[in-house]
Amino acid sequence: MIDYQPLYSALLDREADAWVKLLPGQLVSALDSTRHGNLAQWQTVVERLPKLTTTHRLLDADAVQIGRSDDLPEAGKKQLEQQLKTLHPWRKGPFDLFGIKIDTEWRSNWKWHRLKTHISPLNQRLVLDVGCGNGYHCWRILGAGAKMVIGIDPLLLNVMQFQLVRKLYGEALVYVLPLGIEELPYGLKAFDTVFSMGVLYHRRSPIDHLLELRDCLQPGGELVLETLVIDGRLGEVLLPEGRYAKMRNVWFLPSCETLINWLKRCGFKNIRLIDVTPTSVEEQRSTEWMRFHSLKDFLDAENPQLTCEGLPAPKRAIIIANSA
Ligand SMILES: C[S@@+](CC[C@H](N)C(=O)[O-])C[C@H]1O[C@@H](n2cnc3c(N)ncnc32)[C@H](O)[C@@H]1O
Repeated sequence: MIDYQPLYSALLDREADAWVKLLPGQLVSALDSTRHGNLAQWQTVVERLPKLTTTHRLLDADAVQIGRSDDLPEAGKKQLEQQLKTLHPWRKGPFDLFGIKIDTEWRSNWKWHRLKTHISPLNQRLVLDVGCGNGYHCWRILGAGAKMVIGIDPLLLNVMQFQLVRKLYGEALVYVLPLGIEELPYGLKAFDTVFSMGVLYHRRSPIDHLLELRDCLQPGGELVLETLVIDGRLGEVLLPEGRYAKMRNVWFLPSCETLINWLKRCGFKNIRLIDVTPTSVEEQRSTEWMRFHSLKDFLDAENPQLTCEGLPAPKRAIIIANSA
């Protein structure tokens, strides 16, 4: 069982009483086993994890490390590996848990390297990571000195992967809540830094997403925004007719200039484009821990500059901005 009391206290300190009132009910209803056919099984896996002890915890490394290989006998390691694999597919990582190397679909550490020297120091900051997946970046943010990290993600498999990793780690001021950003009450203004990485293009209304992010930040707080972009001028945006790289739920892919303008119009200040990188098949690929199709299968076989639908292949921008 996760103790949410420190999280409630931190939110109350920031006068986020409205959310503290809602949260216990939100957690119960989101994690009701009728919400997903496999949820009860995943919950059992987490409950039945053996109590493992280790002094080795390393968050400031490419693979989030908990436990050393020789903290656990071979039989225990085999059992843990089986338990971890019940929560397939592992998309964000890597993790190294008691010597078991979870080689995830994404090398999420590459994204972290692109942004870590550009963001304000995370020391003692209260951080929200919107659409945090299984929480890989939440651990990296904690490792960089944050006071507390709250991730939110509506996908229950992500939340259960996080809970499993957290159980191996032991008590920590990091949480992943089974919520979408639209479930946060209006007017929070509670966080020093808000990350939204890989979420904007999943939102039907990107401007509303930016306003929701601004609304989570304290005045002067920092937004770290990462999203798919296209080459193009101010005003240019791609709205795919149907799927994009086989994904059904992709809406707006702006040019960088357009995205910067959206941020300006939403009242952000000090807007800096710090990185634009095409996603490579080395960064996103199928592995033993994510056995489904991946980027290579979603690109045009003849021309990797295009998706299989003939649209520009994925390219991602990172922008940092401050709320007014
Ligand atoms: C492409 S992944 C990005 C994960 C991680 N932030 C990263 O950059 O590696 C997008 C995540 O956003 C989550 N998501 C989708 N809709 C969301 C919403 N309305 N609120 C918060 N998260 C959402 C998805 O479940 C998914 O885990």
